[in-house]
Amino acid sequence: MTHRRRGLLITLEGGEGAGKTTAQQFIYDWLRAQGRSVTTTREPGGTPLAEGIRNILLDAKGEMAPATELLLMFAARAENIAKIIEPALGQGQDVLCDRFTDASRAYQGAGRELGLAAVDALADWVHPTLKPDLTLLLDVPVEIGMERVGKRGAALNRFELADTAFFERVRHGYLEQAMREPDRFVVIDATQSLNEVQTEIQSALEAVCGGEHCG
Ligand SMILES: Nc1ncnc2c1ncn2[C@@H]1O[C@H](COP(=O)(O)OP(=O)(O)OP(=O)(O)O)[C@@H](O)[C@H]1O
Ligand SMILES: [Mg+2]
Repeated sequence: MTHRRRGLLITLEGGEGAGKTTAQQFIYDWLRAQGRSVTTTREPGGTPLAEGIRNILLDAKGEMAPATELLLMFAARAENIAKIIEPALGQGQDVLCDRFTDASRAYQGAGRELGLAAVDALADWVHPTLKPDLTLLLDVPVEIGMERVGKRGAALNRFELADTAFFERVRHGYLEQAMREPDRFVVIDATQSLNEVQTEIQSALEAVCGGEHCG
């Protein structure tokens, strides 16, 4: 039997409109150009069931208790991990995930003020050994992110309708998490031009791939 190296788990984090989804395409192309196999997914979502949970979570007309929101996030995450993330990593594919557990720390832990202990307890239970190899945090001031979201012209989802104080707590929650785990996080000033953002992302990718045979 050939032993296949486990793939890398790379997560994209940041507030609304920071540029996560734009970055995901760039990273996908870069990793593929290195000859790597890549699976992309997003949270909440990634499987039909988890996308169904996403619809409930994002429904602008919906309303739910913060604890319900946190538990639904982890219900969707458990599906994504079991059906998409773990199988792909096990086959040696890199997995690129648009948001992961740090988003629960920032949005539900800090934003909804449930606290980190609740999120960490669920993370320890749902994925005790799974941790991103690299987390790219795209950081922008709240107003700039919301301006980008507004320009998209699509109807706002339940999170995008939250008030500025919520988004400030989310932003600081992310930055605190990055300070707590500096080896895993790379914080990128996402007010920079797309080109500058991509240059910094590429350096981070080269560093994380450097330990292995990349390309
Ligand atoms: N560095 C940048 N400079 C200017 N505009 C940008 C930059 N990065 C992304 N954008 C634009 O901002 C908008 C939001 O980007 P994107 O959808 O990638 O953000 P996101 O973080 O995925 O948002 P969401 O949280 O809503 O999923 C898009 O129109 C994108 O083209
Ligand atoms: Mg996006």
